[in-house]
Amino acid sequence: MLTPMPNKRFLIAANWKMHSPPPGFDAADSPYKTESAVDVAVFPSFIDLSRCISAQLITGGQTGRPEPSGALTGDVSIAQLKTVGCRYVLCGHSERRKNHGETDDYVAQQAIAALEAGLHPIVCVGETADERKKGKQHDVVKKQLKDIPSGIIVAYEPVWAISGGDPSKPAASAQDAQDMHAFIRSLLPDKAMRILYGGSMNGKNCEELLKCPDIDGGLVGGASLKPEEFKKIVEVAVALEKNYES
Ligand code: PGA
Repeated sequence: MLTPMPNKRFLIAANWKMHSPPPGFDAADSPYKTESAVDVAVFPSFIDLSRCISAQLITGGQTGRPEPSGALTGDVSIAQLKTVGCRYVLCGHSERRKNHGETDDYVAQQAIAALEAGLHPIVCVGETADERKKGKQHDVVKKQLKDIPSGIIVAYEPVWAISGGDPSKPAASAQDAQDMHAFIRSLLPDKAMRILYGGSMNGKNCEELLKCPDIDGGLVGGASLKPEEFKKIVEVAVALEKNYES
């Protein structure tokens, strides 16, 4: 259970959703800056992208249109994200799928557009509570990944574990997360691709989750808005990374 993938380098991603950047995000000692041993990236709302990029944070968009430009009022294209200095883009977060009708097909188009633009797409997948209750979680995730190109990062975010702002919500167990991550890796053409876990990851449970061999980082929502707690998650990742090296 605790043997890491060779050459593992964690990515800890802060998904700030529709919240302002937390205090101190742009300070010299910001916990949101990439550590030497671990990649850290922030995903602010569109209006805060430039502030984060100016603060030298590795930054990504929370979504983006695959078309480079067009008559699409209120939207932002993946190509535009690249132009302002983003490095990553989330594709198909469950809140986008639910609230904005992002389908598997559309998410595949986003991932392709991101790769073409030179951004790293983080494709979010995960089953609902009802789908898990019916034992359909593997089928759901397999379908979500069917047309996704190689060269992407995956974030497994079981919908039932996403906090939605409730810090008392439990994350998936390390065993359930590891099982699904191993399954996802078996589906990916590039076995070395990173697979992040998301859904109520916090300072307390991150070590158990990040120790799993097929978990290569976290996509952190609620806990990423608390700088001290986010710092803890990054520190745990740095310590695990150092353990693997020695
Ligand atoms: P959470 O959000 O950490 O608050 O559960 C994760 C996400 O939705 O990306």
